[in-house]
Amino acid sequence: MQNLKILALETSCDETAVAIVENGSRVLANVIASQIDLHKLTGGVVPEVAAREHVLRMNPCLEQAFQQSGFQVSDIDLISVTQGPGLVGSLLIGVNAAKVLSFAWQKPLLGVNHVEGHIYANFLEREPDEIKFPLLVLTVSGGHNELILMKEHLGYELVGESLDDAAGEAFDKVSRILGLGYPGGPAIQKAAEKFQGKLSFNFPRAWGLKGHTEPSAKYGLEPKLHDFNFSFSGLKTAALQALPENLSVAKQAELAYAFQEAVVDALSVKTFQAALKYKVKEVHLAGGVSANLALRERLATLMAAQSINFKYPKNFAYCTDNAAMIGAAAYYRAQKHGLPTLEAWQEISVDPNLELKSSQGLAASN
Ligand code: KG4
Ligand code: ZN
Repeated sequence: MQNLKILALETSCDETAVAIVENGSRVLANVIASQIDLHKLTGGVVPEVAAREHVLRMNPCLEQAFQQSGFQVSDIDLISVTQGPGLVGSLLIGVNAAKVLSFAWQKPLLGVNHVEGHIYANFLEREPDEIKFPLLVLTVSGGHNELILMKEHLGYELVGESLDDAAGEAFDKVSRILGLGYPGGPAIQKAAEKFQGKLSFNFPRAWGLKGHTEPSAKYGLEPKLHDFNFSFSGLKTAALQALPENLSVAKQAELAYAFQEAVVDALSVKTFQAALKYKVKEVHLAGGVSANLALRERLATLMAAQSINFKYPKNFAYCTDNAAMIGAAAYYRAQKHGLPTLEAWQEISVDPNLELKSSQGLAASN
């Protein structure tokens, strides 16, 4: 199927997003109505507030997407929407809007997994043959933290995951502890950049092996680790315990830096070792935390040393939640399975715990 033009809707958490994407790569419109200012007031997302905002913002976002692209409804071949995982109230707004449009405009509708969307964000604005399989994806967002091996399109093998908090969640929680606000990732990155001098302490890294608590420099490049799972809850406790009674700006910067280093260390060393074990040609970083410059830099250095291609989304707007990535994932699904029927919308329902499934089913392998 050539020149497939997909209208995509995403409302899984706190961004109302609408995009129009051609052939899974060319982004003709990418509208994101962020609710960050609203959720800053409560230090995090209140689900009911997020859902209500989606209702208010969906129509203006749709109008803007058509304006940006210069498209008419008749130009659209397929509608796609995030079905899950995410907040149920938020997902319902996007899915119901997409169903109405599918029925009213007589366009087929395809439900997309949000995590699959993040994975396919790396295909946006890239030629399909620029990407080489097998590849390893590190998904790092507020809700997800997985290492996924892909030997082909839409084929996912889970090789590691967070046993507790996702990396983004850890950034958000520690940011709150340090009084840096919401969302935590960008706030911690900014504070960490201000740190100068020598670290006066070191936060633990959960390597998954007894006794291995030293920084990665000592053994990080040898494939010694048992598993590729992550854990960040101990780090959160360590940050809480290290908090002085009076937190100066300098100490805040030091704690932010130490925390970011510990997360970057764990994520990059395990990803690197998994990349060696599975002999992948590429490593992709996906999800909100892929915007983190320290993480990008570390992974780039490690992969370059082994001539493994390293990619992250071409645009910062494709790292955090957006609809263009949903349009990209829908394109590859449609390529593999064909367009859904015009009645398919009737079968699409929200699933807040939707699992990532490859065409053959998501296999766990360690
Ligand atoms: O993918 P995303 O927009 O939403 C989910 O699917 O969860 O990811 C949001 C997460 C938040 O936890 C946010 O703090 C984190 O991505 N994030 C960052 C950065 N920008 C966003 N974390 C670290 N460094 C950043 N620059
Ligand atoms: Zn996301």
